[in-house]
Amino acid sequence: MEKREAWKQELIQNAMEARNRAYVPYSGFSVGAALLAYSGRIYQGCNVENASFGATNCAERTAFFKAVSEGEREFKAIAITGGKALTEPSDYAYPCGVCRQVMQEFCDKDFTVLVAKSAEEYKEYTLLQLLPHGFGGDKIL
Ligand code: THU
Repeated sequence: MEKREAWKQELIQNAMEARNRAYVPYSGFSVGAALLAYSGRIYQGCNVENASFGATNCAERTAFFKAVSEGEREFKAIAITGGKALTEPSDYAYPCGVCRQVMQEFCDKDFTVLVAKSAEEYKEYTLLQLLPHGFGGDKIL
C-alpha cells in the first residue's frame, strides 16, 4: 500500500477539480489530470472532445501541453481521475498509450503516476512500470 502523502493528495484534489471542467458531449466519460513540475507549479488538464472524435485531447496531454507551452520541461508526478461524468469514479482511469508516450518524452523512468478514485483511494506507479521498453529520442538522435 502506498504512503498517503499530503502532496499526493493535493495533486489528486487538483485532478478532481480539473475533471469538473471536462468537455465530454460524446463519450460522457470525464477525466481530470494534475501535473506537478519540479518548479513546484501544478498544471491542471481535462479531456476536450471533438465531433470528429479524432481531434479529442486527453486530460493528461492537456496538462502536459499547457505546462510545456509555459516553459516547463521537468516533471515529478501526475494525478489522474476519471469515470462517468457527474458521478464519483467507480474504477481507476489509467492513461492511454499515447499519453504514456508523451510522458516518456518529458519524464524520467521514476516519474510518478497516481491513478485515483478519490484523494484517499489511489494507486501509484512509475512511468517505467506503465511503459516498459518505451521509445525515446535517444534512439534517433
Ligand atoms: N481519455 C483521457 O482523457 N485520458 C486517457 O488517458 C484515456 C481517455 C478520454 C478521451 C475521451 O474523451 C474519453 O476519455 C473516452 O475515451
